[in-house]
Amino acid sequence: MLVTSRPLDEYCSSFGLSRAGLRALPGPLLDCPGGAAGLSAEARVLGCRVVAADPLYAAPPAVLADLARAGRDAMAVQMRNTPQRYPDARHHRYDKYLRSWDRARELFTADRAAHPHRYVAAELPRLPFADGTFALTLSSYLLFAYPDRFAPDAQLSALLELVRVTDPAGEVRVHPLHDGNGRRCPHLDGLRAALGRHGVTSEITVRPAGGLNSRVLRLRAARRPQGADGPFGACT
Ligand SMILES: C[S@@+](CC[C@H](N)C(=O)[O-])C[C@H]1O[C@@H](n2cnc3c(N)ncnc32)[C@H](O)[C@@H]1O
Repeated sequence: MLVTSRPLDEYCSSFGLSRAGLRALPGPLLDCPGGAAGLSAEARVLGCRVVAADPLYAAPPAVLADLARAGRDAMAVQMRNTPQRYPDARHHRYDKYLRSWDRARELFTADRAAHPHRYVAAELPRLPFADGTFALTLSSYLLFAYPDRFAPDAQLSALLELVRVTDPAGEVRVHPLHDGNGRRCPHLDGLRAALGRHGVTSEITVRPAGGLNSRVLRLRAARRPQGADGPFGACT
């Protein structure tokens, strides 16, 4: 599994979010897994309260920095060798794209040093947060990207845990819904039915002209407070 360092702009584009939407969040944001992403550092500048969770935060910062550099180098090789796997417009200039990862990694390293308590060592399917802590929970490049690590029952447990720590008036967003070879999750309908049986509503939103990368799974606890519209409405 690569340790990656996507910047805020890539999160916004992948999850259908905007800086204004993030600024208007009524509560904290969870990024799980946080990896070496720039999201926490960059969203904090917008005024968001952000917590990142990842098992690797138990490791010394220098170890994580090495893994993140290796993740970036591995991505460079993948993009050169299999460009067909990266059809999104933002990938077309891959040197520029990877420089955005380098910047994000530097921001992550500085922010983690300045706010270590905002980077929590934790591993799905169990997170050390109280029910309903977060207004928005994002999960990027984990549960469906690495199906060899997450069998369907492990995906279900992890998704339920992400919903548990999210305010019923907020939501969980998960991206991507395909693996590293571009294969869509074959049992997503069954997973959504199982989530429904646990009182979780789900929808898949599709970004126009976004290709394979355009689908986002959005989850909410079904029983929401009366009159609550959620923190974003259209979330743009
Ligand atoms: C591909 S990176 C994604 C990082 C970040 N979300 C991004 O998009 O740049 C995957 C991360 O998942 C973390 N991870 C692996 N197993 C996990 C688990 N069970 N719970 C939470 N994070 C996990 C890894 O340590 C790694 O940092």
